[in-house]
Amino acid sequence: MEQTLAIIKPDAFSQRLAGKIIDLILEAGLRIAAVKVVHLTRRQAEGFYHVHAGKFFFGGLVDFMTEGPVMVMVLESDNAITRWRELMGVTDPAKADAGTIRRRFGSSVERNAAHGSDHPETAAFEIHYFFNDLEIVRANP
Ligand code: CMP
Repeated sequence: MEQTLAIIKPDAFSQRLAGKIIDLILEAGLRIAAVKVVHLTRRQAEGFYHVHAGKFFFGGLVDFMTEGPVMVMVLESDNAITRWRELMGVTDPAKADAGTIRRRFGSSVERNAAHGSDHPETAAFEIHYFFNDLEIVRANP
């Protein structure tokens, strides 16, 4: 059993796409183990994306991620990281496969509708950035 962090980004959340994206998540066999809606401060967004600090797109990324509320979720299944990344599609919506979330709902590399952890260690950091253990439902044995 694996967990990953998913974010419905400000572009998708403000367009009221959260329900559609949650349907796709559940249809793909992922379970939602935790969920909250937050409007990130710049400092919180910078901390979350600290691995990208100094990159040319960092300022724009922080501007975008703080422009409105996001929905943050812990998703759980076998291979949850890969499953959620396949459902999202690649970073650039124009290059993402037909039917993926970023292809359907994203509009640019920056405004790409959704985020997912890329590795188990990243997932552990990202999940605990937003949730403590009491806020995450335990998997059924
Ligand atoms: P995300 O999966 O949230 O992780 C880092 C984000 O940086 C990525 O999605 C993109 O939305 C954003 N980003 C903006 N510009 C670029 C770029 N040129 N290359 C990669 N990521 C970018």
